[in-house]
Amino acid sequence: MFKKKIPNKNIDLGKFNSLDNLKFKADIIIDCSAEPAVEISRKKINKVIKSNLLSTFNILEKAEKDKSKIIFISSSRVYPIKRSYEKFKTFKRFKKHQTFNENLNLNGQKTIYGFTKFASENLIEEYNYSKNLNYIINRCGLISGPGQYGKVEQGLISLWMWNHMNKRKLSYIGYKGTGDQIRDVLFIDDFCRLVLKQTQNFNRFRNNLFCIGGGAKNAINLKRLTFMCEKITGNKLKISKKVKTSIYDIPYYVTSLNKINRYSNWTPKISLEKGLNEIYKWMKLNQNRIRNFF
Ligand SMILES: NC(=O)c1ccc[n+]([C@@H]2O[C@H](COP(=O)([O-])OP(=O)(O)OC[C@H]3O[C@@H](n4cnc5c(N)ncnc54)[C@H](O)[C@@H]3O)[C@@H](O)[C@H]2O)c1
Repeated sequence: MFKKKIPNKNIDLGKFNSLDNLKFKADIIIDCSAEPAVEISRKKINKVIKSNLLSTFNILEKAEKDKSKIIFISSSRVYPIKRSYEKFKTFKRFKKHQTFNENLNLNGQKTIYGFTKFASENLIEEYNYSKNLNYIINRCGLISGPGQYGKVEQGLISLWMWNHMNKRKLSYIGYKGTGDQIRDVLFIDDFCRLVLKQTQNFNRFRNNLFCIGGGAKNAINLKRLTFMCEKITGNKLKISKKVKTSIYDIPYYVTSLNKINRYSNWTPKISLEKGLNEIYKWMKLNQNRIRNFF
């Protein structure tokens, strides 16, 4: 990890034509530019449209000019909020995980963040249809791992671990403060392994959209995350409750890996326990350097 130095061109992708003067040509462009915090997208619509959607447009224009292929990092938040409530209800009734797949109906409100990712997915598919641009879309659930700085708005797993390690305050927000909300966690090394495979065997995955995430095996609710963080750090916090649920939050997301498994033998290898321990090790080792980012 962190061994290769990647040159940073410091270009604002949220400005029209921002890549026009970039001489560098790529075989494959990995589009992961975004303001990724859902709650921020509610307040800063202008910024989010620019950084998430206009950025994809700029990348598509550059890709078309240079005949590059695109790998786009999309988000599970393209699913309507109501779908998450429906799945959560069924999960509680049958005590069996209800996964989200590529064929679900996407009609309904998703948050401005979700809209921009959905619009980017659509724009990429239009460029494929009309301009022959080749793409892979990875529609990702929650991603975590060493190197991620956590805030309340984004990076929940890191935030939970850091605050346990440093005995800082935490709250269960929404859903009556129960900590019942569920996500599946994909650890970054597993995701990088997939993206590497996709760059090396692009044609196998070409012009497809895949749901990518930790899957049912790596699904966890917040209460259990607390328990695991306590076990790893040896610290027990008194977690407060904020009962009000944001209209932008969702109670449940777990990824179906069926399609990606039909296209490759990739599957997440890092368990919750291993992934959380790796985050903790990274935090312990780098705590002075990273303290200001939390
Ligand atoms: N972290 C997750 O759980 C998760 C889940 C699903 C999808 N994603 C997607 O993965 C990608 C990376 O997200 P992340 O969580 O690592 O967040 P991040 O904030 O670490 O990464 C986003 C990157 O986009 C860059 N960026 C933002 N606006 C820009 C602009 N106008 N011009 C140029 N660069 C700009 C930022 O500098 C940053 O490097 C995003 O596209 C996000 O939507 C993340």
